[in-house]
Amino acid sequence: VLLTGCGQREEEQHSPELLLGFSQLGTESAWRSGNTSDIEKKAAESGVSLMLEIANRKQEDQIAAIRRFIAYQVDVIAFSPIVEEGWDNVLLEAKEAGIPVILVDRDISTKSEGLISCHIGADFYNEGVMAGEYLIRKANSLQMDEVHIVEITGTEDSTPMRQRQAGFMDTISSDPRMQVIESVNGDFLKSRGAECMRYLMEKYGDDIDVVFSHNDEMTLGALPEIENAGAVPGKDIIIISIDGGQEAIDVLKEGKINCVVECTPMLGQELMDTAKKLKNGEEVEKVIHPNELFFSDEQDLSDLAPRGY
Ligand code: AHR
Repeated sequence: VLLTGCGQREEEQHSPELLLGFSQLGTESAWRSGNTSDIEKKAAESGVSLMLEIANRKQEDQIAAIRRFIAYQVDVIAFSPIVEEGWDNVLLEAKEAGIPVILVDRDISTKSEGLISCHIGADFYNEGVMAGEYLIRKANSLQMDEVHIVEITGTEDSTPMRQRQAGFMDTISSDPRMQVIESVNGDFLKSRGAECMRYLMEKYGDDIDVVFSHNDEMTLGALPEIENAGAVPGKDIIIISIDGGQEAIDVLKEGKINCVVECTPMLGQELMDTAKKLKNGEEVEKVIHPNELFFSDEQDLSDLAPRGY
């Protein structure tokens, strides 16, 4: 794609089927890198020309990227929003320019109707439910009378943080044994997961029965801090994580994590298919949730295929 002096795009001789602008929110986790790679791969395989911009986990970077996509007159805009609120103005600009917008991964909250054509992403609430249901089964099998839980949450005001917490709390709250003794924000980062866990071990030590961590990255940061404090993760403390990346699955097989709820980053094919339909003026589904699995110490995982992220 070429830009003319006044910012209009000129088609190259071999014009692509579709020009897609995608704003990725950052590079904070193996999940995120896997998601970006999958989108790049599926764009190449589908004959889609991809303008990829990776923000530094800052909403203003993503808003600036979306404005560049509008100026470029891309066919379709997609983005993975870092937080839920604050997108109305830029999305109204996209609507006025006649460019359809797809949300990938996380959701947004808007005051205006019709700003988003489709949301392709996990059912984060159900992930929290699966985590809670596992914990109830585990507490039953260990015949626990009281269950003291610490929660390490993802990025504040993001959909996975809000929905995973809501699904988990709604599931465990009817069980009188369950008590969340503290919830701390780990921002989906390994370094923050370690800091949070160090703080929690210093404050509560042996009182902690369960860590519910909103992603693998924070879990992998937290585990060494539990060991440094003299406890055995997976045995003294039940560890529940979300994502299902290879590293966490390997640690689950070693016995240091008890349960990992899958959140698949492989959303690229749905994105390409949906973007093509939108360009052709076809109807698309409003919400597309991928099928997601669940891995735990209740299962034989010896034949599990490589995870790919
Ligand atoms: O939005 C999906 C979440 O974002 C993943 O669980 C996490 O690893 C990523 O940072």
